[in-house]
Amino acid sequence: MTNIATTINLAYVVAAALFILGLKLLSHPSTARKGNMISALGMLVAVVVTLLDRDIISYHYIVLGVVIGGAYGAWKARSVQMTQMPEMVSLFNGFGGAASLLLGWSTVSAMTPFAINASGNFVFITVLFTLLVGGVTFSGSVIAWGKLSGKLSSKAVIFTGLRELSILHLVGMAVVGYLFVTDPANPLWLYIAIALGLSFGLWATISIGGADMPVVIALLNSYSGIAASAAGLAVGNTILIVTGLLVGASGLILTNIMCKAMNRSLMNVLLSGFSKPVEAGEAITGEIKVLSAQDSFYVLEAAQAVLVVPGYGMAVAQAQHAVRELQTLLEENGCTVDYAIHPVAGRMPGHMNVLLAEADVPYDQLHEMDDVNPRMENYDVVIVIGANDVVNPAAKEMKGSPIYGMPVIEAYRAKTVFVLKRSANAGFAGVDNPLFFKDNTRMVLGDAKETINSIIREFGDD
Ligand code: TAP
Repeated sequence: MTNIATTINLAYVVAAALFILGLKLLSHPSTARKGNMISALGMLVAVVVTLLDRDIISYHYIVLGVVIGGAYGAWKARSVQMTQMPEMVSLFNGFGGAASLLLGWSTVSAMTPFAINASGNFVFITVLFTLLVGGVTFSGSVIAWGKLSGKLSSKAVIFTGLRELSILHLVGMAVVGYLFVTDPANPLWLYIAIALGLSFGLWATISIGGADMPVVIALLNSYSGIAASAAGLAVGNTILIVTGLLVGASGLILTNIMCKAMNRSLMNVLLSGFSKPVEAGEAITGEIKVLSAQDSFYVLEAAQAVLVVPGYGMAVAQAQHAVRELQTLLEENGCTVDYAIHPVAGRMPGHMNVLLAEADVPYDQLHEMDDVNPRMENYDVVIVIGANDVVNPAAKEMKGSPIYGMPVIEAYRAKTVFVLKRSANAGFAGVDNPLFFKDNTRMVLGDAKETINSIIREFGDD
C-alpha cells in the first residue's frame, strides 16, 4: 500500500470514529449540538480525503456545488420552523437517496464497453441495488414531505388494484434487475430500473396515512443509508460503506423503537393501506367529572409534587410557553415539577422534547416513561396536557383493545389526574380512554393553552 493510500485509509478511520462519537452524543439533548458538530467535522474529513483519492478533472463544479448546497442548507437550517422539522428531515433523506441513485447511474454510464466486460456481476448487482433503493427513497421521501407539509392530502390514498400493482412492481424489479445485471451495456434496463424504483416509492408511501409518516421517514432514512452503502460498494469507497451502514442501522433502530412504543408491527404500518380499519374496542361507560380551571388551581396550589405529561394536543395548542410559566409558579410555591415524555407522544420522534426545549424547560426535568412509572403514586397531581393514547390505561387493562400491550405512562396511578383537552374524544389510535372515567381523574375541558393561562391568572390573583 502506498503512503497516500495509507493516509487516506487512516483519515477514513478518523472520520468513521467521529461519526460514531457524534451519534453517541446525539443521543442526549444536552450533548446533541456537540454531536452534530463532531459528525459534520467527520463528514468534512471524509469529503476532503475522498477528493484527494480521485483523479479530479476540474474542481469548478465541486466548489460550485459545495457553495450553493452549503448556502442553501445553512439558510434552511436557520429559517425552518420547529414544526416543519419532520418534512425537512424527509427532504434530506430524499436528497440522500437521489445522490446515491445518481452515483449508481454515473458509475455505469462512465464505463467504457471494455470496463463493462471486465467488471464482475458484483458491481452491477450493487449498482442495481443503489438505483432501486435510492429511487424508492427519493420518491417516497418527496411524498412524505408533501403529506407532512400539507401540499398533498395526508389521507392514505387507496385504490382498487393497489396490492396487485405493488406485487407486479416487485416482480418487474426482479426481472429488470436480472436483465440489467446480465446485459449492463444496454442502457434500457438501467432506465427502466430507475423508473421502477421511483414509481415503487410513490405507491408504497402514498398508501400510508399522514399520521404514520414519522415511522415512514425513519424507515426512509434507513433506506437512504442502505442506498449509500450499496453505492459505496459499487464505487469501492470504504467511508461511504461505513457511513451508509451507520445511517441504515440507526434508522432501523429508530423505526423499531417507534413501532414498539406504538405496539404496532412495521408491517402493520407499511400495509395499513391494505388492512381493515382499526376497531374501536369495547365501549367504556361511567361518569366523567369536569373541573374548572379555577378549581384546579386550588388543588395545584396545595400540591407538593406535580408531573406534567404532554402530548400532541400541547403542540396543537402551542401551550409549551404557558406550561413553562405554570412550572415556574408551581416551583415558586414550593412544589417540584417533573415532565414525563412518552417515546411517541406527538407526531414525530422527540416532538415534546423539542417543544419544551423551545420553552426553556431544563432537560434534567424531562423523564422517560420507565423512570416515572415506578414512582407514580408519589405525585399529588399529574397534569395531562393534550395527551391521550400515551396515557390510556386500556393498554394495560382491556385485553380486546387495539392498543392492548402498548407501553403507556401510568398517570391513573397518581393521587389526582387533570386531563386538559377539549373533549372526551379519542386520540390518534381512535380508542376510547378509560382514564377519563377514573375516580381520581378530573377533566379540565378547553384549549390547553387557554386552560393553563386561566390557571396562571389564578396564581396572579392569589
Ligand atoms: P393523541 O393520542 O393523538 O391525543 C392528542 C389529544 O390532544 C387529542 O385526543 C385531542 O383531544 C387533544 N387536543 C388536540 N388539540 C388540542 C388543544 N388545542 N388543546 C387541548 N387538547 C387538544 O396524542 P398522544 O397522546 O401524544 O399520542 C400520540 C399518538 O400518535 C400515539 O397514538 C402514537 O402512536 C401516534 N404516533 C406518534 C408518532 C410519533 S413518532 N410521535 C408517530 C406516529 C404516530 P380533543 O380533540 O378532545 O381536544
